[in-house]
Amino acid sequence: MHRRVFLLAAASLPIVSLPALADTPTIIKVVKSPTCGCCGAREEHLREEGFIVDSHAIRDEQLWDIKARLGLTDETSSCHTGLIDGYLVEGHVPASDIRRLLAERPSARGITVPGMPIGSPGMEMGGEVDPYDTLLIRPDGRTEVFESHS
Ligand code: CU
Ligand code: CU
Repeated sequence: MHRRVFLLAAASLPIVSLPALADTPTIIKVVKSPTCGCCGAREEHLREEGFIVDSHAIRDEQLWDIKARLGLTDETSSCHTGLIDGYLVEGHVPASDIRRLLAERPSARGITVPGMPIGSPGMEMGGEVDPYDTLLIRPDGRTEVFESHS
């Protein structure tokens, strides 16, 4: 009886009004340092863009170990590490790039915004923007520009 009531209620939810597309996986798992403030700001950006953020603050040694195992280097890494639908999403990558990644599904490990450029989502400082590139990391570890932001 209760189950039936629940199903009826669920059926009437206005699903189409959610910002996320119905067939796009929107849960992103994020691991970060417990002391990182910009990581939280970035998560807010993702939530505002319709993603569900499964966030885990872990010890720094664990975080760097995960990055190393994912093949991230000094050149490709940032503060926090995300995983969505089999792709790596490193650092302050804008939600629009994640949506494009999931739509195009290139042969790649994932995308990254290395370092922490001023003006990227979660790194806002007034109106200042350091132009930055989102890089695509190919399966062999080589990178190419996925999207330029300025
Ligand atoms: Cu950061
Ligand atoms: Cu971060």
